[in-house]
Amino acid sequence: MNRPASLQDTEQPVPPTPTSGTRAGTRAGLAVAAAFAVVLAHAAPAAGAAEPAQAKPAAATAARPLGAQAARGKYLVSTSGCHDCHTPWKVGPNGPEPDMSRALSGHPQQVQMPAAPALPEGPWLVTIGATNTAFAGPWGVSFTANLTPDAETGLGEWTVRDFKQTIRTGKHMGRGRAVLPPMPIMVYNHFTDADLEAIYAYLRTIPAVSNRVPEPRPPAAR
Ligand code: HEC
Repeated sequence: MNRPASLQDTEQPVPPTPTSGTRAGTRAGLAVAAAFAVVLAHAAPAAGAAEPAQAKPAAATAARPLGAQAARGKYLVSTSGCHDCHTPWKVGPNGPEPDMSRALSGHPQQVQMPAAPALPEGPWLVTIGATNTAFAGPWGVSFTANLTPDAETGLGEWTVRDFKQTIRTGKHMGRGRAVLPPMPIMVYNHFTDADLEAIYAYLRTIPAVSNRVPEPRPPAAR
């Protein structure tokens, strides 16, 4: 299957491309996460011990090089912090790191977050779960979305237009509820259309992970 050189604003989702699994895990920087006061939730050990939802085994085809557009999207994803928040963290040999075996699959469905702990004295604002995928703040509790092409639980049904409109308007698919913090919409709004199309193209190529992210909780239910 050849990928279109340039994705237009089509209403049709681009079918995900099968890949073979040897994608090198790029370590995303900690800059974005470090911007928040990290108070590890008490559920930390449970989060690490939980059975990870592994990416579905990729089709047994030879490694496919990414097209130029998707390769640019991979570069943007790995330099813009998407893995920091959308890839669940595990404790590796060198400390906490994004678990690239379930890259960009969002808050793991089996990691149930208890109510956020009360904030300590002082100018503390946000509590972040051990997987760096659940965030409690004045907006309530938000859980990072599954960005993989899984049709049921990820972005499989999203068109490039849905994706661009979400980032441009800060609303789900450009028409639904407001996208909650800490998703840096106001930062990514500076991406060009070509950048967003490239990111979308890359997200179609990553392994689909079936992982149903919980709904956000309102402030009263933190
Ligand atoms: C600082 C953490 C953080 C970073 C970095 C981040 N996200 Fe998010 N993202 C979130 C959270 C939290 C949500 C869920 C927000 C909600 O439920 O309203 C989210 C939701 C989304 C959604 C779904 C919105 C919807 O309406 O369903 C998309 C698409 C998305 N992010 C793409 C990206 C991409 C692409 C990148 C990198 C360029 C990225 N995110 C980086 C935290 C982050």
